[in-house]
Amino acid sequence: MESLKGKSVLITGATGGIGAATARLLAASGAQVFITGRNEERLKALQQELQLPADRFFAADLSSASEVDKLKERFHAVFPTIDILVNAAGVGIIKPIDTLTGEEFMTTLQVNLVAPFLLMKAFLPAMKDVKKGLIINIPGVLGKVPMAGAAAYSASKYGLTGMMQSIREELKRTDIRITNLFLGGVDSAFWDHIDLRVQREKMIRAEEAAKSVWFLCQQPLSGVVSEMVLQPFNHQAI
Ligand SMILES: NC(=O)c1ccc[n+]([C@@H]2O[C@H](COP(=O)([O-])OP(=O)(O)OC[C@H]3O[C@@H](n4cnc5c(N)ncnc54)[C@H](OP(=O)(O)O)[C@@H]3O)[C@@H](O)[C@H]2O)c1
Repeated sequence: MESLKGKSVLITGATGGIGAATARLLAASGAQVFITGRNEERLKALQQELQLPADRFFAADLSSASEVDKLKERFHAVFPTIDILVNAAGVGIIKPIDTLTGEEFMTTLQVNLVAPFLLMKAFLPAMKDVKKGLIINIPGVLGKVPMAGAAAYSASKYGLTGMMQSIREELKRTDIRITNLFLGGVDSAFWDHIDLRVQREKMIRAEEAAKSVWFLCQQPLSGVVSEMVLQPFNHQAI
């Protein structure tokens, strides 16, 4: 296993269920984490809980190119290099096409697809300079298998899957590793506004989802886990 000790790690979506649990786990394993999300209060609370230095968090809307640029500046003011990028930011607008609005469709693409693109433009160059790094995105199983009523979400997550697979091909002559993590239902605030009959108590817990990220971050450098699938047995209400 690779050690996480001292590794510089950027975690987006750190104010969310999976991102916060990941930050806790990686920090506990000795990683030097830098956290971002939109909600400054929750970010600050996590920074204090993890006893991170005051310059280890920055609130940013990742769908804005200028805010991602500022995030990059803040991150590199602390760490010259980036060992690991965990992108756990995302929105879950899951609605049938009849009720899905154009605005919701565009928001979904902005956060789930354009933001990861902006993160690549901002942070990949530093990895390319040293020809190594690890990038983990969380397309979820709906970025692999479509589900009725998830046109916007699946469009964004299939796009994310394809974009990262293409970038992986571009990076084949480097040791930059890209992993697409396909998670099934994880019990988090993600589900608070989704109008589907699901059994949240049967979902994967955010702490367990974070363990899959933690596992990926410690894989030997000689290989790459291109994808990982982790699903609950069944959380569809009968
Ligand atoms: N939960 C699941 O069942 C599940 C399954 C498969 C894949 N996933 C994926 O896993 C990732 C994390 O999900 P989660 O369950 O942890 O959801 P969550 O608890 O709702 O957290 C979502 C995170 O994304 C951040 N975010 C949303 N819009 C943003 C924006 N414009 N700019 C910057 N940050 C933004 C939120 O920040 P603020 O709260 O500060 O706004 C929050 O930190 C998402 O990509 C999701 O699609 C989730």
